[in-house]
Amino acid sequence: MKTLLLIKPWAVQRGLIGEILSRFERRGLKIAGLKILNINREQAEKLYSIHKDKDFYDDLIGYITSSPIVAVVLDTDVLEPDAAITLVRKIIGLTDPAKAEMGTIRGDFGLRIDRNVVHASDSTDAANREIPLFFREDEFITY
Ligand code: CMP
Repeated sequence: MKTLLLIKPWAVQRGLIGEILSRFERRGLKIAGLKILNINREQAEKLYSIHKDKDFYDDLIGYITSSPIVAVVLDTDVLEPDAAITLVRKIIGLTDPAKAEMGTIRGDFGLRIDRNVVHASDSTDAANREIPLFFREDEFITY
């Protein structure tokens, strides 16, 4: 399967793209798709539709659309789908940077829960829903 990782505005602004990508590469996961882009409001609303009723929703949309992000599709075919989701979540750490363990991306680089440095799909269903927001099927590379 494939899963989506987003390197969010604060991480791009701080020059952390390479550092974050290398965490996944070093672990052995392949990058099947990669692009830097300005996410538009429609994409952001679809990405975060499950948070529509949360009090932080408007801020969440404002943040993700504030400056460029990097969208990454990780090829996790070497693992069972659930194991792949678990591994990626483990590499990024808990949502709240204050609770994320050191050694995880959020634990090492995160500062504020509302200005997270990365997003990753939290289930296979989420991955299948989120990836097409950023990539066409013919954009994936296998190697
Ligand atoms: P992300 O993994 O992109 O998906 C949902 C986002 O909501 C999450 O990153 C956080 O940045 C944000 N979020 C979650 N909980 C809160 C909160 N309590 N306050 C502000 N933002 C939050």
